[in-house]
Amino acid sequence: MNKENQSTATARKADHLALTNSAQTGVENLDQRFDYEPLFESHPVVDDWVKPITFLGKRLKAPLWISSMTGGTREAKTINTNLAKVAKEFGLGFGLGSCRSLLDSNDRFEDFNFRPLLGEETPFYANLGIAQVEQTLAAGEVAKIHSMVERLQVDGLIIHINPLQEWFQPEGDRLKKSPLETLQAFLTQAKYPVIVKEVGQGFGPRSLKALMQLPLAAIEFGAFGGTNFSQMERLRDVTNCNDGVHGLQFVGHTAAEMLTHVNQIIDTLGEATKCRSFIISGGIRSALSGYELITQCRAEAVYAQAKPFLDHARGDYETLQKFVLEQVLELEMARRFLTVRL
Ligand SMILES: Cc1cc2nc3c(=O)[nH]c(=O)nc-3n(C[C@H](O)[C@H](O)[C@H](O)COP(=O)(O)O)c2cc1C
Repeated sequence: MNKENQSTATARKADHLALTNSAQTGVENLDQRFDYEPLFESHPVVDDWVKPITFLGKRLKAPLWISSMTGGTREAKTINTNLAKVAKEFGLGFGLGSCRSLLDSNDRFEDFNFRPLLGEETPFYANLGIAQVEQTLAAGEVAKIHSMVERLQVDGLIIHINPLQEWFQPEGDRLKKSPLETLQAFLTQAKYPVIVKEVGQGFGPRSLKALMQLPLAAIEFGAFGGTNFSQMERLRDVTNCNDGVHGLQFVGHTAAEMLTHVNQIIDTLGEATKCRSFIISGGIRSALSGYELITQCRAEAVYAQAKPFLDHARGDYETLQKFVLEQVLELEMARRFLTVRL
């Protein structure tokens, strides 16, 4: 052993002695979701994390998607540029935040114009709220949406369904029709893929069943358990009287619960299941959670995050790059050494 290796080994032994007390895990912390099988694989080496999958007709390098986050502010431009760069480098799907401002004006176009940076390979989707879709249809102006999709050169449109968020938002819209009616009407006119999502409270089984019978490209969960836009709007409204504990912001469905419903619906609907692609999101805070859920899904699935990407996209690009690299490597370690318990 050379001198340098010897001093590293000595330092390591000293670390081990110093950290032993803090390194007690306790059986109560055991992650019971997986069987750990240390016997059958080697470690991944650089670039071994690349496991191309086909999702929505495009190739992803990892089963990971960046959930829609708002554009339209100076900081959002930096955040979105970082997100677009990382989506391209790591071959991830990328959903824009609400592109509402582009329906009537091109002033903010550059905040959303990421196709040139992303290239053709990256799945890239625009985003609008169901209220805007309803209003645009009512005004006979649906061509504005088609034109926006074309200008952005996106693969399609994500529509967020958010009646509770709109209800809480001080300047929120009121829906005059049910989201299902609006979607059915819109889908007859859209010639591009359409994805539907919630914004932090997910969908119950009846809604999931109805969505899965529509010709949608995918359903993104936007489940309960992470960022919650009803809570966000409630916090913005300083005049509200809601006690903050028992309100409508605390209803909804977790990603795990929604996945159980999706699998049951696939079984019961059989051939009538038109939408068989899922973006599992809402409160997914680790690669292991994402891995568990996509493995259990009986249809094509990736997992997605909003807040964790936001946390790492506000500063320099290297911070975000490191965050994503750690996540895709952890996914690959999980694939090699863990079996999801069913
Ligand atoms: C800052 C921010 C802005 C968001 N803006 C949008 C939006 O414009 N459209 C949308 O569909 N969802 C939006 N979302 C919701 C996310 O896409 C996602 O559904 C939600 O945050 C739950 O994921 P998370 O728990 O990983 O954050 C936004 C989320 C964040 C954190």
